[in-house]
Amino acid sequence: MSRMLKFWKLLFPIGVFSFRLLMEPLGLFKVNKEVPLRQEPSGPPLAPAKITIDAGKIIGEIDPFIYGSFIEVLGKCIYGGIWDEYNPNVPLIHGGLRQDVLQEVRNLKVTIIRWPGGCFSDGYSWKDGIGPKRIKRRNRAWHWWGPKVGPKHDNHFGSDEFMLFLKELGGVEPYINVNFGSGTPEEAAQWVEYMNGDSSTKYGALRAQNGHPEPYNVKIWGIGNEIYGPHEIGYCSTAEEYANRYIEFAKAMRAIDSSIKLVACGTDFTFPDWNRTILTITGEYIDYLSFHVYIPGKFLTTLSNTAQNFYNIIAGAFELERRLEWVENSIKAVMGENARIAIALDEWGPWWNFRQLYEGYYTLRDGLFAASVFEVLHRHTNMVKIANYAQLVNVLPLIVTNEHDIYHNPIYFAFQIFSNYCKPHVVSTSVVCDTWENPPFGNIAETEIPYLGCSVTINEAKDKLVIIGINRHHAHDLPTTISISNFEPKPIAQVLELNGPFHSAYNSFTKKEEVKIQEKPAISVSNEFTFTFPAHSVSVLFLQKKP
Ligand code: AHR
Ligand code: AHR
Repeated sequence: MSRMLKFWKLLFPIGVFSFRLLMEPLGLFKVNKEVPLRQEPSGPPLAPAKITIDAGKIIGEIDPFIYGSFIEVLGKCIYGGIWDEYNPNVPLIHGGLRQDVLQEVRNLKVTIIRWPGGCFSDGYSWKDGIGPKRIKRRNRAWHWWGPKVGPKHDNHFGSDEFMLFLKELGGVEPYINVNFGSGTPEEAAQWVEYMNGDSSTKYGALRAQNGHPEPYNVKIWGIGNEIYGPHEIGYCSTAEEYANRYIEFAKAMRAIDSSIKLVACGTDFTFPDWNRTILTITGEYIDYLSFHVYIPGKFLTTLSNTAQNFYNIIAGAFELERRLEWVENSIKAVMGENARIAIALDEWGPWWNFRQLYEGYYTLRDGLFAASVFEVLHRHTNMVKIANYAQLVNVLPLIVTNEHDIYHNPIYFAFQIFSNYCKPHVVSTSVVCDTWENPPFGNIAETEIPYLGCSVTINEAKDKLVIIGINRHHAHDLPTTISISNFEPKPIAQVLELNGPFHSAYNSFTKKEEVKIQEKPAISVSNEFTFTFPAHSVSVLFLQKKP
């Protein structure tokens, strides 16, 4: 064992223990839930903005898998959230799946779900979670952080239950992260056989014996998670070490099923040589290179509901874009301009405080951040083919549950707007508007940010145009001229709006609809019309082509 690793093995538990000692009783770094501030100075009004759309010019095709999410054995995401076996107060199916959660996830139209981690996956033994005899385990990745974050789990939600969950959702793609950290290439290959082999194979037969004769045909498999970080089980201190062992995993897994797609663990400029080394050594075995972005950085930040924090968080979408561009370039530098390897942004979201792993509080601000991230992803369709919001339920959540109830965070609605209403083709659009200069905040660099965000998409038949506008000002409406070429719209357009009474509005079990999506009165449109985007909102304009 290298000296560095020994050092971490010793320091990590001590660090975590003292952190918890301080944090829990003193309530340090609280997730701030102060009363929303209505009377913040609103500043000078904004100059009218202009959006120019060329509907004849398609700049990209959206991969539906950018509307993905992630579930991990962590806190109450799966056990006590999605799978709530011991809760008598909510309707369940298949002995554990919560019906209310299923329904809200269906409404979200998630396309792909990654499981079982995250950090958890690098310590997970998949065989503990199949068949009639399940093994109760402590959470190898998260138990350090106490029972709220890393409770013991009885492994009742394993591979077959994951597939059952997806089947109940209807048509959601599985994405499984194998255990690279403490597992072996053989175990990973056996897992592929359990999921994809026919019942004449050893593990395919085991699956059939467990009640599932038909192979699941899981296509997307990740090998390792954040393995460049000392926090991860199986941490690799060099990219070479990861790359060489990755090849062993890839060969073993592909020997079972050559059609599977493999996701390798990449990163952004935090580890500047990592991607280059991985791609150089193992490029031919990689289909997707992953990376994660959490803004403004984890664990120690306290946010208030001020306008300044409103802008700080939204600025995170532009930091995400900066990191994304860096990753794109790192791939092109090794694989060439027309690189075959795509990006899987397989964890992203706003995270600033440890407690968000078990307290799901987000405001409209965070919803506007998420909408701005989808706007970014629409600009990068050529390389980003998978993106997973982290996470789906109760942990940094879109959906929050307790023993008898459920509500949505504003991020849920932002996600829902994009996954439900956008069309597959991104249309060339330019925006001219006022901007603000946001100072550095956490891991977010200083950025100039346009108050108006915009994404325009069109359907295959080219007769439906969807304009999404994000007004990122905390107080002012934004009058905008929208000019469209190569598309003659019918005179009336439907409008939806995601908004709340103020920029820091949020939902809770007692006020579930402070922030929501509402249908607004239809508006008159033409090739040049004006529309006022309300303060701190996301608006969707549905235009149809004149016959
Ligand atoms: O989403 C929570 C954790 O964040 C994941 O387990 C890990 O991959 C990341 O650090
Ligand atoms: O053990 C928790 C891990 O520490 C998180 O997943 C990681 O991102 C952090 O650095």
